[in-house]
Amino acid sequence: MKVIFFDKVKKHIFNKFHTFLTILNKSSLLPKRSLRVAVLGSSGAVGSELIKILEERNFPISELILLSSSRSAGKKIIWNHKEYSIKEVNEKSFENVDLVFASAGGSISKKWLSTIQDQNSILIDNSSAFRLDENVPLVVPEVNPNAVFTHNGIISNPNCTTILLSLVLAPLSSIAQIKRIIVSTYQSASGAGQLAMEELKLLTSQSLQGNPQKPKILPYSLAFNLFLHNSPMQLNNYCEEEMKMINETRKILNNPSLKLTATCVRVPILRSHSESVNIEFSKAIKPHEAILKLKESQGIDIIEDYQANRFPMPEDVKEKDNIAVGRVRTDLSNPNALELWLCGDQIRKGAALNAVQIAEILLQNHHE
Ligand SMILES: NC(=O)c1ccc[n+]([C@@H]2O[C@H](COP(=O)([O-])OP(=O)(O)OC[C@H]3O[C@@H](n4cnc5c(N)ncnc54)[C@H](OP(=O)(O)O)[C@@H]3O)[C@@H](O)[C@H]2O)c1
Repeated sequence: MKVIFFDKVKKHIFNKFHTFLTILNKSSLLPKRSLRVAVLGSSGAVGSELIKILEERNFPISELILLSSSRSAGKKIIWNHKEYSIKEVNEKSFENVDLVFASAGGSISKKWLSTIQDQNSILIDNSSAFRLDENVPLVVPEVNPNAVFTHNGIISNPNCTTILLSLVLAPLSSIAQIKRIIVSTYQSASGAGQLAMEELKLLTSQSLQGNPQKPKILPYSLAFNLFLHNSPMQLNNYCEEEMKMINETRKILNNPSLKLTATCVRVPILRSHSESVNIEFSKAIKPHEAILKLKESQGIDIIEDYQANRFPMPEDVKEKDNIAVGRVRTDLSNPNALELWLCGDQIRKGAALNAVQIAEILLQNHHE
């Protein structure tokens, strides 16, 4: 008990000291003026949400550069009452850019990394390309905000299901040590991008008309169906998405030996992921104690009405910043474990909002 307390104090002092040093070393922060910001992948599910959030949160932008492949080049977007044209990314796209948000996939982030770094721009990357690189911070601002200041030009945004899960694990781990987590996900079509969403709508309507066609984006039809996550299968029989949850949660919570097992499933929902989570602690925690902790944590709403049998649903969180948690109960098979259910808009908090929140930490006036 004493050891855990002193470890926490040590970690707290280290974090404060590190933040202090970083604020002194302002080069890790963004310049103190309106910024030139590029969004790579701006026509996609995450990119288009990110642009909306930059406007909503009044992010200080002097010039917005919207980038995609040739497929969406020329597409017009209204941002902050002004019309912008999406451009095909090229060698000159990042000239004098201060900040790049990338959500065009891992290979595209890797392809443009050196061009971005030549400009001394900061890259906030939504892909999995650099997430497990030990020189790249992997950040959920409500959980490990100070990790941002350790960046060397790249900051990774975690996987969407991992962000939603870590929002809950971090506060609960301050009540008691977490021994093991078992999670099953219910992931919406939009997790696979804009085109997967369109495909679900089309195949659902074709199925209702009795004439379903073959899927082109996802491997199987999601219409009136579900299937295990289609990311590449690994040698250990976990798919890549499940291993992302395991490895990224360990990195964010700074607990390399954290025991976590995951089963990831795609479900016929357009937007917002859900997760069924079982958390075993070193001691019993009362559900009301956990709820109280989650209630006072940032980014979480509680939806829990046992009399009305009303708990979080994807519709509750669609286009919302906060995730919703409910059905927090003691696991009947293990008194030291809690069961809970969560839903979160994975395009928003699971990707775009999280990236903008990271950028906000880098704004200098936040630290004065
Ligand atoms: N969707 C989610 O819930 C979610 C959550 C967390 C992280 N992510 C990650 O975010 C990234 C984007 O996901 P998404 O769901 O937004 O995908 P998406 O809807 O398919 O959008 C992909 C974007 O990337 C652009 N792109 C594709 N190939 C390109 C190329 N060669 N050069 C430049 N731009 C290119 C596309 O432009 P065109 O329109 O021109 O094709 C589009 O803007 C992925 O790495 C994904 O893993 C997604």
